Amino acid sequence: MKRVFLETYGCQMNVADSELMAGVLERAGMELVPRPDEADAVILNTCAIREHAELRVLGRLGEFAHLKMKNPALVVGVAGCMAQHLRKKLLDTKRVLDLVVGPDGYRDLPNLLKSAAGAPVAEIRLDRDETYGDLEPKRVAGVRAWVTVQRGCDKFCTYCVVPYTRGRERSIPLADLVRQVEHAAARGFCEIVFLGQTVNSWKHDTNDFADLLRAANGVAGVKRIRFTSPHPSDMTDRVIAAMAECEKVMPHVHLPLQSGSDRVLDAMNRTYDMATFRDVVAKLRARVPKMALSTDVIVGFPGETEEEFEMTSAYLKEARFDSAFLFKYSARPDTKAFKWPETVTEDEKGRRLTRLIDEQMAISAEINDALLGAEVEVLVENVSHRDGTQLYGKSAEFKTVVFTDDGTQPGELARVKVVGTTPVTLLGESLKKPRQVPLVTIG
Ligand code: 5AD
Ligand code: SF4
Repeated sequence: MKRVFLETYGCQMNVADSELMAGVLERAGMELVPRPDEADAVILNTCAIREHAELRVLGRLGEFAHLKMKNPALVVGVAGCMAQHLRKKLLDTKRVLDLVVGPDGYRDLPNLLKSAAGAPVAEIRLDRDETYGDLEPKRVAGVRAWVTVQRGCDKFCTYCVVPYTRGRERSIPLADLVRQVEHAAARGFCEIVFLGQTVNSWKHDTNDFADLLRAANGVAGVKRIRFTSPHPSDMTDRVIAAMAECEKVMPHVHLPLQSGSDRVLDAMNRTYDMATFRDVVAKLRARVPKMALSTDVIVGFPGETEEEFEMTSAYLKEARFDSAFLFKYSARPDTKAFKWPETVTEDEKGRRLTRLIDEQMAISAEINDALLGAEVEVLVENVSHRDGTQLYGKSAEFKTVVFTDDGTQPGELARVKVVGTTPVTLLGESLKKPRQVPLVTIG
């Protein structure tokens, strides 16, 4: 058991978990390979948030069944939320599978893989104490380091499977996190993104998320700090003040709304109402200059009436988010809402979704158009895949900016003038002055 192929589905938390697994495997002498047909073991790190995510993984497992026919020794594993969600059922029904490992079983992954080569293994215990805070992930090269600050979730939104797949909320100690940030910065990762299911509810001993932001702001070599995803109910004045006062914390917040109706928010157990949400948005915009906001919305939650849907649409127009992730409600086994009758048909969900997508695209396009002629600061990530003469990176507000290659290196900041826009990208021209060639007179 030497070569492992690891494929990631779902959210940033899974991307970070795959980096954690990669670190654990490499320290055990295993090697990560880029293709499944070169591997002794394949692991799919999966997502269970919507049914569609699970169907994609089941399709992929079908492909691995073919590979296993050619190479019967191949160990096939499923990790992550779907593993936890379907547990033994996966092993029983999917003959191709040798290993099912939930989000709290990664510390022992090398041994699990070795045992799975003999007989099928399921490691699906949730562990209230496991944070992996002491383990160094193998970070994918680039400018951005994902730093998991908290695992699990205690909010129990009635539609969401995460508290059941990732278990109770646990925060990683401040000292461990500061060490991880310093370590990442020393290796050239100049943007830190703190990750947690409700990242701003992070707390440890007497410290809260505001203290964590301030501590990271003081680490040399870090140029930018971001975090995702905060919960509106934990967006305290202390956190907003830290955002306003820490120059490295970027002016962008992904603040999931889910619905614009108080009744639906209550049925979702979101713990805030529209008055509170509006208040948080107003405070963020008042305290942090050029604050960019994005959000998540679910349409077709059980019982959502046409009128309640219109409230969501009206609020998106009022709030004018820079961008929004819009989803059709998907009933998830284990959740509270799963038992509630679905009152909105698939067709109607589709209609509501398309309406919001069209409306939000128009808003995003207007917001981006208003930036024409403005100067933005871009943290350069790389040369554009599409056009090798262009660089790309993110603005402070987390918008992707593509601009002419002016020799700025990945990890450096470039000043760029916006000369074109789409609803999702800014096109720019570098404002870097051409280097002055000194005049040398000879003779
Ligand atoms: N159906 C549809 N969307 C969901 N989300 C979470 N659970 C569900 C579900 N059962 C969405 C929420 C959340 C985002 C990550 O996924 O909007 O913020
Ligand atoms: Fe799911 Fe709600 Fe927790 Fe987010 S806050 S992970 S939506 S239960």
